[in-house]
Amino acid sequence: MEIKKITCIGAGYVGGPTMSVIAQKNPHIQVTVVDLNAQRIADWNQEDLSLLPVYEPGLDAVVAEARGRNLFFSTEVEKAIHEADMIFISVNTPTKTYGKGKGQAADLKFIELCARQIADVSESAKIIVEKSTIPVRTAATIKNILDHTGKGIQFHVLSNPEFLAEGTAIADLHNPDRILIGGEDADAIQALKKIYEAWVPAERVISTNLWSSELSKLVANAFLAQRVSSINSISELCEATGANVDEVAHAIGQDSRIGSKFLKASVGFGGSCFQKDLLNLVYIARSYNLHAVADYWEQVIKINDHQKSRFAEKIIQTMYNTVNGKKIAFLGWAFKKNTNDTRESAAIYVADHLLEEQANIAVFDPKVREEQIYEDLDYLATRSNDENRALLQVQDDAYAAADGAHGLAILTEWDEFKELDWAKIKTVMKKPAFIFDGRKLLDGKKLQELGFVYYAIGE
Ligand code: NAD
Ligand code: UGA
Repeated sequence: MEIKKITCIGAGYVGGPTMSVIAQKNPHIQVTVVDLNAQRIADWNQEDLSLLPVYEPGLDAVVAEARGRNLFFSTEVEKAIHEADMIFISVNTPTKTYGKGKGQAADLKFIELCARQIADVSESAKIIVEKSTIPVRTAATIKNILDHTGKGIQFHVLSNPEFLAEGTAIADLHNPDRILIGGEDADAIQALKKIYEAWVPAERVISTNLWSSELSKLVANAFLAQRVSSINSISELCEATGANVDEVAHAIGQDSRIGSKFLKASVGFGGSCFQKDLLNLVYIARSYNLHAVADYWEQVIKINDHQKSRFAEKIIQTMYNTVNGKKIAFLGWAFKKNTNDTRESAAIYVADHLLEEQANIAVFDPKVREEQIYEDLDYLATRSNDENRALLQVQDDAYAAADGAHGLAILTEWDEFKELDWAKIKTVMKKPAFIFDGRKLLDGKKLQELGFVYYAIGE
C-alpha cells in the first residue's frame, strides 16, 4: 500500500507539530492538515513564523522547511479527506461536561463527527489513524461507522497514540522513545511503519493489537502523572520533617529501578491531558466495576488538587492569614515552560483560590496572551468576568508585575526568571518581601541573603 497523500483532521498542539515533522521527513508525501477553525488555519499559514498558533522550540524551522513544499494547512476538510490515502484523526477529546460520565468520561463527539465525515466523503480505500487519545475500544466505534457506508469501500483503522510533551514537541518527534502502532491489518500497519521509519530506527516502532495500543496511551499518562503526585505528596512530608524534596528525589532517583526523571516537585501538574486521561481511566475502570482500580488512580488527581490548594493556603498563611487587598505577583501562567498552552495550568487554580480571598494579582508570562489568562479564569465561572478583570492585571514584564507587590509566586519554571535582577525586584516590592517558589526554580539562599522571605515547595 503506497501512501502518497496524508490528511490530518485537527490542527492543534498535536496535529500541527506531528504532521510538520512527518512532512519534513517524507518530502515525497503530500501532507494536508485541516481544521474547522479558520483562524487556526490562517495562523498556521502566517508568513511570520513567530505567529504560529502553537509555540514550540524548533517548530518554526520545520514549518519553514516543509510548508508550501509538501505541507499544507487548509479549511477544506472534505476535499482533503476525499483525496487522502491515509487520514490521521487528531481532534480534541476533552472531558465530558454534560450527561452520563460528566466530569470524567472522554467526550468523543468530535471523533464520531470525523468518522461520519470520512464515511460520507470517501470514494476510495483509506487507512484511518487514531492520533487523538481515546478510551480503549474506540476503534470499534470508528470501524462500525465506516463499515456502514454502503459504498463497499475498504477502511483499516489503526491506533497510533502520540507521546510528545509540550515544550519539547519537536525534539520528542525527531527522537521518540518509541512509536506505537496498534492494528489488525498487517499491510496497513506496514504502511504507517514506513512513514515513521523515514527517520525512526525500526526497533523503536512497536506494534500491538488495537486495544493494547489504545490503553497504553492512557496508562503511560497515568504512570507519569502518578510520579508527579507521588513526589508532590512527599514534598508536604518534607516540609513537616525538615527533609528536602530535591535531595530525596535525587537519592531515590539514583536507584535504576526508580529512575531520576519526572520527580520534580511542583505546585501541581497541569496540561490538557494528565487530568483528562486519568479521569477517563478511572471512568473506564468503574464502568467495568473495577472500583479498587478506579479509587487507586483517582487518588493521583486528589493529591494534585491538594497540592494546588496547599500552595495557595501557604501564601495566605505566610502573609499573616490575609491577602485581602494585597498585591501578589505571578511569574508564569503556562502549565510548564516553553509552551504558550495554559490548559489546566496550576496557576489558574492558585489564582482563583487567592482571588476568592480578595487578593489582587499581577501576572507576567513571556508567552501567554492577556486574553487567554482572562478566558481561563472566566471559564471557572467563580465570579463575574468584570470582577476577574478588576482583581487581576496582566503585565508585560516581571518588574512591572512585582512593583508594589506584597508577595511574588513562581508558577511556571521559565528559565528567564532565574536571570531576573532580584535585587531590583526587592526594592520595588513591599516589605517584608515574600517569594513563594512553586517550581523550586530560584536560588533560595541567594534570595534570603538579599532579604527576601523565601518559601519553596518541599523544603
Ligand atoms: P487541540 O484542541 O489543540 O486541537 C484539536 C483541533 O481539532 C482543534 O483545532 C479543533 O478545532 C479541531 N477539530 C475538532 N473537531 C474537528 C472536526 N470535526 N474537523 C476538523 N477539525 C476539528 O488538541 P490537541 O492538544 O492537539 O490534542 C488532540 C488530541 O491529542 C487529544 O486527544 C489529546 O488528548 C491528544 N494528545 C495531546 C497532546 C498534547 O501535548 N497536547 C499529546 C499527546 C496526545
Ligand atoms: C504529557 C506527557 O509527558 C506526554 O508523553 C504526553 O504525550 C502528553 O502529556 C499528552 O498526552 O498530552 P505534557 O502534559 O505536554 O506531556 O507535559 P509534561 O512534561 O508531561 O508535564 C505535565 C505537567 O507535569 C506539567 O505541569 C509539569 O510542570 C508537571 N511536572 C512534570 C512536574 O510537576 N514534575 C515533573 O517532574 C514533571
